[in-house]
Amino acid sequence: MGGIVTNLYDDIDDAWRYECDYSSYKDDLPLILELSEEAQGPVLELGAGTGRVAIPLARRGIRVTALESSSGMTDLLEKKLASEDPNARKNLKIIKGNMSTAHFDTRFSLIILSFNFLQLITSRRERIELLRQCRHSLVNRGRLYIEVAFPHEDYICGGRVKRKYIKTFYDRNRRQWVVLFQSHEYLAPVQELVMEYLFLYLRNDGTTESNSKFVTLSVIFPLELEGLLIETGFNIENNWGSFDKQPLNTQSRRIIVVASKP
Ligand SMILES: C[S@@+](CC[C@H](N)C(=O)[O-])C[C@H]1O[C@@H](n2cnc3c(N)ncnc32)[C@H](O)[C@@H]1O
Repeated sequence: MGGIVTNLYDDIDDAWRYECDYSSYKDDLPLILELSEEAQGPVLELGAGTGRVAIPLARRGIRVTALESSSGMTDLLEKKLASEDPNARKNLKIIKGNMSTAHFDTRFSLIILSFNFLQLITSRRERIELLRQCRHSLVNRGRLYIEVAFPHEDYICGGRVKRKYIKTFYDRNRRQWVVLFQSHEYLAPVQELVMEYLFLYLRNDGTTESNSKFVTLSVIFPLELEGLLIETGFNIENNWGSFDKQPLNTQSRRIIVVASKP
């Protein structure tokens, strides 16, 4: 049980749906941009997806390497990058690969693990290996940014939670509206959340088509994340509960940690 799933978005239709579902989500961008500008050196984003974070950084003149393991995501990211202006194109390097086996020809000033990336790595051993690899790939005093979901009681109450409506969005690739429903089950002994995303496509002829996607996410507690970082040789600089740098509290929805290589 557990490990690394590197082909979550190999299917280009899944990548397009991710793009249409999340491209308007920008809550984390100001903080990531601030840290990237402070870094004053090359930035690496792990699991860059369709470039939701990497493209805005490249547009701001930051040199970014986007590492992504799923072929659907890298294909779409390449396509999106091709329509960017020459400066953004020059600043963004896309590598299709997996962090555990990747080799870089440079060391980075900042490594970004945004939007629950670390929760996709569901074994403790693989998480430690990945964080060690990050440490190795940073310059001295380089920083690591990690953002994961706070283990809020809505998620870890145990048992299977009934499906509920989340949102409706437009899939520009299929030219169809999509209604998203979500349910989850928390497996306490292994600290895993099995998320079910049910996408209901509304066809133009009035019929519907449904498509379910299951994603297993590790639940990571604040002290556990702190422990992993200390064990892999990082100094923890900040531990926030929101993108506007509020401390963690029982109402927090995110865990945001900035750690540095000594
Ligand atoms: C939740 S998406 C986040 C995408 C993007 N960072 C964002 O904020 O929108 C996580 C991405 O990580 C990729 N991924 C998962 N494991 C990976 C690994 N070991 N190495 C590189 N990419 C990985 C997945 O294919 C997926 O596209």
